[in-house]
Amino acid sequence: MDRKIITIERHITEQQRKYPEATGMFSDLLYDIALVAKIIARETSRAGLVDILGLAGKTNVQGEQQMKLDVFAHEAMVRMNRHTTRLAAMASEEVEDIIPVSAEYGIGKYVLLFDPLDGSSNIDVDASVGTIFAIYRRLSMGGAGRMEDCLQEGRRLVASGYVIYGSSTMMVYTTGQGVHGFTLDLTMGEFLLSHSDIHIPAKPKYYSVNQGHEQYWTTGMKRFTRWLQGMDQKVPRRPLSSRYIGALVADFHRNLLQGGIFYYPADTRNPRGKLRLVYEAIPLAFVAEQAGGYASDGHRNILDVQPQSLHQRTPLFIGNRDLVEQAEEFISRYDGQRQVDAIVGK
Ligand code: F6P
Repeated sequence: MDRKIITIERHITEQQRKYPEATGMFSDLLYDIALVAKIIARETSRAGLVDILGLAGKTNVQGEQQMKLDVFAHEAMVRMNRHTTRLAAMASEEVEDIIPVSAEYGIGKYVLLFDPLDGSSNIDVDASVGTIFAIYRRLSMGGAGRMEDCLQEGRRLVASGYVIYGSSTMMVYTTGQGVHGFTLDLTMGEFLLSHSDIHIPAKPKYYSVNQGHEQYWTTGMKRFTRWLQGMDQKVPRRPLSSRYIGALVADFHRNLLQGGIFYYPADTRNPRGKLRLVYEAIPLAFVAEQAGGYASDGHRNILDVQPQSLHQRTPLFIGNRDLVEQAEEFISRYDGQRQVDAIVGK
């Protein structure tokens, strides 16, 4: 059997060859992210040992302060990318404002937005967590990157993706040329191409939602969920199985590979949704679209939403296109204009 081993570095370089004008700066940036992912993977895999080796906030054997893993992941991402000359600015789910880069080394043409450790409460129970990232070309003309560079529509993404720290560590990314997944080989310390050109299976298997919150949902959401369960008398269908980990990356990743829908709707407690538009919804929406799926806020394509602020929240429906379109249909049929206005912030 002749199976080529393709490292992430080689894959990124080969993709770059399709763009003769490319300087290599973007490829290097993607490779930097892969490197941080390895560092975070190493720490998450040791997370169960913190009780033995030192708790977060306490001092470890070297006399250093132990960091919580989400803070560690944030710091690792910032440190890796601050001096590379590839970025004009960064923004992280962990901090309020945009993060400047070190001007003394030179300012680059890209901005990087990230959620360093999504679903971090899962760490305490050895369940999967992830990192999500989004890369845009800066819009402003020079000097330090500005807020407008970070608040861009998903349509302008240059690349996005995520890393899942699960039973193995995988990095999945798209530059608009399909979705590709790489599994970390621990013996080599390399991400190797394991899932080339990922497409969401046409026949979905799962729906993923926090059903414990059903009492806060709209009628549209309750009816949509019944429909997924095959309990809608008017439109019977084969029921989907329910799976919910409570870490967006893990729930999204499973449904990307197996088919299905993840949703976190607007509800009476979170009328604008819970998840973050720029750190969670937009980057995964680009991956979903490139894999043949779709992401919506219940009313419009997530990639067409113009973000107004860094920590803006949004409802999210993501996965197989027909399922997400059904969710939009149930919202418009049963929840009416008021719900749509609430989603778009009127
Ligand atoms: O946004 C953080 C996050 O942990 C996501 O990763 C996850 O999908 C969601 O929140 C889980 O929220 P809940 O605990 O309300 O179901």
